[in-house]
Amino acid sequence: MRIDIITVVPDILRSPFEASILQRAIKKGLVEIHLHNLRDYTTDNYKQVDDYQFGGGAGMVMMIEPIDKCITKLKSEREYQEVIYMTPDGDRLQQKMANRLSMHENIIILCGHYKGVDQRVRDKFITKEISIGDYVLSGGELGAAVLCDSIIRLIPGVLGNETSALTDSFQDNLLAPPVYTRPAEYKGWEVPEILTSGNFPKIEEWRENEAYERTKRLRPDLLEDE
Ligand code: ADE
Repeated sequence: MRIDIITVVPDILRSPFEASILQRAIKKGLVEIHLHNLRDYTTDNYKQVDDYQFGGGAGMVMMIEPIDKCITKLKSEREYQEVIYMTPDGDRLQQKMANRLSMHENIIILCGHYKGVDQRVRDKFITKEISIGDYVLSGGELGAAVLCDSIIRLIPGVLGNETSALTDSFQDNLLAPPVYTRPAEYKGWEVPEILTSGNFPKIEEWRENEAYERTKRLRPDLLEDE
């Protein structure tokens, strides 16, 4: 999979891909991340990417021309399944959305800044608008990093144990059950006995029950879906 990210602050987007699982996925060649600095697509001396909004009002708006130049160049080189715009008024990112996006070959992610982008960018180029939650960030970059992480870990081969993404919280609309590791007793605090019993069908049953109970207690809304 290839992800092209268009941004005015590429520096924010370097470190998430330079450590741990995402770095390993890139090194293994399972995903390519390409950062594009919008200022490289400007034609004036000031490398201007934003301007005052028509009609007046506080806050700058990202101009269409550099964004058009960047997206048009990328699209001339390969086919993209989605051109995503990160924005607080987009569709809320959910596991199902990450699952679907992880199956694409090439996607573009545009990070907004200031008051957002000229509406014509959204009308003409964007195929999907995504928010990572009901709060406003200073730009779309951190949202893009969250989105990329949620997608990349689902690509086959990225996680060591292929099944581990399938047992994450939110797959099957359930939260994950509690997990424990050694020691089996710490300061008198014990691990549930069933987990050290070796009875794997019973352990599986216990986990399913715990996942359900935890979901009912913490996120009953998930059980009402569908
Ligand atoms: N840009 C600013 N706020 C955002 C949010 N909540 N999600 C995605 N992009 C954003």
